[in-house]
Amino acid sequence: MTTENQTKIYTPDAAFAAAANVSGMAAYEALCKEAETDYEGYWARLAREFVTWKTPFTKVLNQDNAPFFKWFEDGTLNASYNCLDRNVERGLGDKTAIIFEADGGEVTKVTYSELLAKTSQYANVLKSMGVQKGDRVVIYIAMSIEGVAAMQACARIGATHSVVFGGFSAQSLRDRIEDTGAKIVITADHQVRGGKKLPLKSIVDEALTLGGCEKIQNVLVVKRSGAEIAMTEGRDLWLGDLAAQQSTTCEPTWVEADHPLFLLYTSGSTGKPKGVQHSTGGYLLHAALTTKWTFDLKDNDVFWCTADIGWVTGHSYITYGPLALGGTEIVFEGVPTYPDAGRFWKMIQDHKVSIFYTAPTAIRSLIKAAEANDAVHPKSYDLSSLRLLGSVGEPINPAAWEWYHLHVGGGRCPIVDTFWQTETGGHMITPMPGATPLVPGSCTLPFPGIQVAIVDETGNDVPNGQGGILVVKKPWPSMIRNIWGDGERFVKSYYPSELKGYYLAGDGAIRDANTAYFTITGRIDDVLNVSGHRMGTMEIESALVSCTELVAEAAVVGRPDDTTGEAVCAFVVLKRSLPTGDEAKAIAKKLRDHIGKEIGPIAKPKDIRFGENLPKTRSGKIMRRLLRSIAKGEAITQDTSTLENPAILD
Ligand code: WTA
Repeated sequence: MTTENQTKIYTPDAAFAAAANVSGMAAYEALCKEAETDYEGYWARLAREFVTWKTPFTKVLNQDNAPFFKWFEDGTLNASYNCLDRNVERGLGDKTAIIFEADGGEVTKVTYSELLAKTSQYANVLKSMGVQKGDRVVIYIAMSIEGVAAMQACARIGATHSVVFGGFSAQSLRDRIEDTGAKIVITADHQVRGGKKLPLKSIVDEALTLGGCEKIQNVLVVKRSGAEIAMTEGRDLWLGDLAAQQSTTCEPTWVEADHPLFLLYTSGSTGKPKGVQHSTGGYLLHAALTTKWTFDLKDNDVFWCTADIGWVTGHSYITYGPLALGGTEIVFEGVPTYPDAGRFWKMIQDHKVSIFYTAPTAIRSLIKAAEANDAVHPKSYDLSSLRLLGSVGEPINPAAWEWYHLHVGGGRCPIVDTFWQTETGGHMITPMPGATPLVPGSCTLPFPGIQVAIVDETGNDVPNGQGGILVVKKPWPSMIRNIWGDGERFVKSYYPSELKGYYLAGDGAIRDANTAYFTITGRIDDVLNVSGHRMGTMEIESALVSCTELVAEAAVVGRPDDTTGEAVCAFVVLKRSLPTGDEAKAIAKKLRDHIGKEIGPIAKPKDIRFGENLPKTRSGKIMRRLLRSIAKGEAITQDTSTLENPAILD
């Protein structure tokens, strides 16, 4: 039997396909063909259909200053107008925009009219504080209606938001505040997750004492816990109180299509996290378009993306895409395992969720819990409202895919395994659920119009069946526009000269010899993906060596992990003799806590190993490949002849 016969293929259900927004393979191919024949015409058509422009654009793509591409450059628009006012004007004012479920289970709903009013009040508050078009606002808040409204409020007045995930430490927050040069931070007193009240405002206070944040004029605080917190007179203000005094209308500020809608920091292989700069027009187009086609969103759907608004998935598929289409969506404050591991299934049942989008790590951990306890198994819930499932952030292994399909989707829901990145703004490779036959573990085919390919180190196409480097050959509307304040790093990171002007994704991939389907094989740079969270090995190494009283040298690599996909493994050379037993454990804990403080809990290594030295080449380079093998517990098969001190392997 050949592997081809062994691969299970799931063809779309005929009824689903017939009703789908992209209905059948012929429709998919027609869109690809349209893009191929007239690339700019294709994107211009969609930009006119999906985005409402204040001033229509006459230019589509400007490549004069490649790779600093411009899309729809003479058009003007407002993202918040497109997500809110436009829906109210279409008669959707009373439609539920957001169903918010708090950690403890309380439910709050807001309609489009209400969300527009709240957003406008927040926008008026920001204006009253002197925030103008182009100013940056940092948002450090948990999942909430207020968080979405704060982002929309920035967009409304042309301010550029930069959301920092609530799990990042004061130091990481400080770095981001400084790099953005923000004037304002919007935060909450606390966040509540898994039954615990966790500080947010006090972390902002600490960040602002660390230096470099002198531009911050005000901290606007949302009341979540209502507990007593320290407020600095003149600087800190309660956002709710200020908003209540403001008008519920605010004229949108019309911005050029390439005006930066947001900055979102993400890890690369070198240096500090980079501020990925996104546009307004092109970004919004792709967020809306992918929501419509990949998720097949329709008027009566209840859409739930479980990502946090601190990550790009929460930007595109909570704050912008579903709202731009006038959808109804869930915003969930809590965690999948509280009060028990049936929380997701219970919420799908309670809210009659029809489209569910989550990460493989969550699925894998819920599989474990369900297998141990029937009460939290999806079969104990009524999930019949579901019609489509999605996966994002990391490769989904076929076993988890099959379980998700059978137990969550009842065998009837297509799964869209969506490959994309912070930099791409929206889906790049993904099935069209009413068209693409699915193969577990493969993200299948390019989104219509996206020119992805697999090449070798010199940018030449490799044949199907052979692995290589994933690139995007042509600019696309929602692409990263720059790294905030560092154009040189932008060019170096994404448009290396040897790749013929193609965008370098940083992932390896392979296309199936028969189907031409893509499978992502993982990062080819020093970026780790732990539970779908991106981290640079260098960042974690710098955090370790910044513990100067203990650490002489450190190297960090990833190793495969059953639940989190990848786990952080650190090799540390201490300034003292090798510790053993309890002492080694105590030092490891100290280092983990230190990383928690420097970056955030998500970066804490699973393994910390101490050694007398790190394996290096004679020219002094750390041999990471070797460390990766050691981390995995593999036999060393690499050539170690270049190793400076072979004895160290022991
Ligand atoms: C990985 C998240 C395999 C990939 C939207 C990419 C995936 C990085 C998938 C981006 C997928 C994302 N299959 N790998 N469906 N989706 N990745 O910027 O390595 O947080 O480069 O964006 O996640 O992570 P980021």
